[in-house]
Amino acid sequence: MKPEVLVFDGLEALSLSAAERLGRMAREAVRERGRFSLALSGGHTPRRLYVLLAEGGAGELPWDRIHLFWGDERFVPPSDPASNFGMVREALLERIPIPPGNLHPVPVGLGSPAEAAASYEKELRAFFADEGEPVFDLVLLGLGDEGHTASLFPGSPALAEREAWVAAAEAAPGIIPRSRITLTLRGLSAARAIWFLVAGAEKAPVVRILLDGSESEAAQLPAGRVRAAGPVAWFLDRAARGR
Ligand code: 6PG
Repeated sequence: MKPEVLVFDGLEALSLSAAERLGRMAREAVRERGRFSLALSGGHTPRRLYVLLAEGGAGELPWDRIHLFWGDERFVPPSDPASNFGMVREALLERIPIPPGNLHPVPVGLGSPAEAAASYEKELRAFFADEGEPVFDLVLLGLGDEGHTASLFPGSPALAEREAWVAAAEAAPGIIPRSRITLTLRGLSAARAIWFLVAGAEKAPVVRILLDGSESEAAQLPAGRVRAAGPVAWFLDRAARGR
C-alpha cells in the first residue's frame, strides 16, 4: 500500500491538519471500539500538535476513552528535559482531563533499559490481550535526518527483533541520551494507522530517499522498514518535502 503524502506550508499548518484528523479518528475509534490507543512520538516536531490537542484543535476529545503510549523513550527521569514523557506532560497532559490510568509511559524508573523494555512489553501485551497484537489505533512517528524513527537507529540490533514488541536500544553515537527504549518493527507492525510527522529542510534528503527512492534504498533506513497493518501517511512541510 503506497503511503499517503501530505505537504503543508509549514509546521503550523501540518500540526493543525494532523490535530483535526486525529480528532476525527479518535471519535470514530471510540464509537466503533470504545477506546482509542495512540502511541506518541518524541522529539520536537510533534510538540505543536500536542499543544493543539490540549487547546481544542482536534475538537472535543473523549479523553476518558483515549489511552496514550510512547513509541519510544529516553532512559531518563520524566523531570529530565530530554524526557519524551516530560515533553508531553508539559505540552498536553497537564492541560487535559485524561484519567491517570489511561497514561502508559515507559517505566524508566526501573533498573535498566532492558528491564524497562520488558516491563513495557508486558503492559502492552496486557492492554492488547484480546487482540494478541499491538493494534494501536494510531502511531505517530518522527524521522531523524539519518533515517531513524522512534529509537530505531541505523545498524541497531533492535531492528532485527522479530518477536518482542519493545526493545532497549542505543541512539547513534553523538546523539544523547543514548540509552533508549523503543517499539520494534514488530511492535509497529499491527498498527491500524501510522503517521510520520516531519518538518525542516534538514530532513529533505532522507525524505527523498524514503518517498522517491527505490524499495531497496528505502529499506536501508529504519524508517523505510516500518510496516503497519493499516495505512501510512506522511505529514510533511514544504521544506522537508524539498519543494
Ligand atoms: C526521539 C524521537 C525521534 C524523533 C526524531 C525526530 O525520541 O528522539 O522519537 O525518533 O522523532 O529524532 O526528532 P525531531 O522532531 O526533534 O526532529
